[in-house]
Amino acid sequence: VIDRIGELERRYVAEVLDGAFRSSAGSRMTARLEAAFAERFGARFAISFNNGTATMHAALVAAGVGPGDEVIVPPLTMASTTFAVLHAGAIPVFADVDPRTWTLDPAAVAAAITPRTRAMIPVALYGVPPDFKPLMDLAAAHDLFVLEDDAQCFLSEYHGALVGTIGHASSFSFQSSKHLTSGEGGMILTDDEELAHRIRRFGSLGYLAVAAGKARISRDDIQDPSYERHGEVGWNYRMAELCSAVALAQVERIDELVAPRVAAGAAFAEAVADCSWLVPQGLPTDSTNACWTYVLRLADEGPSWSDFRAAFLAEGGHPFYGAWQLTYLEPVFRGTTSEAGQVLNRGLCPVAEQLQPRLIQLKTNYLDPGEAAGQADALRRTVKRLGPG
Ligand SMILES: Cc1ncc(COP(=O)(O)O)c(C=O)c1O
Repeated sequence: VIDRIGELERRYVAEVLDGAFRSSAGSRMTARLEAAFAERFGARFAISFNNGTATMHAALVAAGVGPGDEVIVPPLTMASTTFAVLHAGAIPVFADVDPRTWTLDPAAVAAAITPRTRAMIPVALYGVPPDFKPLMDLAAAHDLFVLEDDAQCFLSEYHGALVGTIGHASSFSFQSSKHLTSGEGGMILTDDEELAHRIRRFGSLGYLAVAAGKARISRDDIQDPSYERHGEVGWNYRMAELCSAVALAQVERIDELVAPRVAAGAAFAEAVADCSWLVPQGLPTDSTNACWTYVLRLADEGPSWSDFRAAFLAEGGHPFYGAWQLTYLEPVFRGTTSEAGQVLNRGLCPVAEQLQPRLIQLKTNYLDPGEAAGQADALRRTVKRLGPG
């Protein structure tokens, strides 16, 4: 059994507190975190943020996405994917998902491309990589910026590459439910130095002195009254040192923190192997699932979502979430027409609409393997109780 927050996290937090936030100690943990993250993923630049929504806002703006530009997003994701597009002043365009993997369907993306399309945000939903190959081919053919939303995906692989190193930039979240956490926090990866520089400046109040690999400004420079600070209007999206301290420890423990989720996913998969009405999320070829949660679809001939939930709880299963509402059906959007002319209502993305009410998101964050095995047994008993079909 491992601790989600252990000795290493405590030690790094104590280091920050011992520094008493003196400017001489400023952003040291953040620099260490960024170096460790970039190294683990084999990326040139890692730029930390205060969350995994600010990351995407900054990356889109830094890539030159703005008013009048269209950005293709899936509807089956947390709303931040779409919000980031709107924060950048651009127009989200919803493309439907693949019925097997539930991630952006390349054919739907191709159909959604217009002369105004500038970018797309494939989401590694629940830890499953999107089918990057056809998406990157479309991006190359239409000169689109590809921002991976990997908030839920740490260490999945696609065709031999780590997810997070395939698009032009990728975004991660350290929010409390994620594989690695510092309560709140985020990270961008990119190999493009110019893009990294613009991302950093945008998230650091437009400071001229920051750079792709440099978050900190020297005190000698900034004390000079003739010093000119701001080259643009930026946001203060910087990661706090205390959060960086926790995140650094989590990055150093990344394998230990991801492995139990993958193991729990494998145990759940085995438990439903003979059930005809519980269908696990499919994977693209030659790829792995980081199992942020382990998600099953209830087939139409299976029990209702609430009957399944009641049976699972009766068998000792832990309460689980359904999928988020599709983003365009959230009250803030439902019934409106987007600037791209999409009518944001039922009928827009039929595959996602069919899937969303039928998803069961089993928790995988069991750092005690015995607990994961117990939940897999509860799932097995639930299938037996309801009839395997
Ligand atoms: C797919 C996805 N994208 C973006 C986010 C936003 O991350 P954050 O909560 O760090 O802003 C989350 C999670 O919260 C998410 O699950």
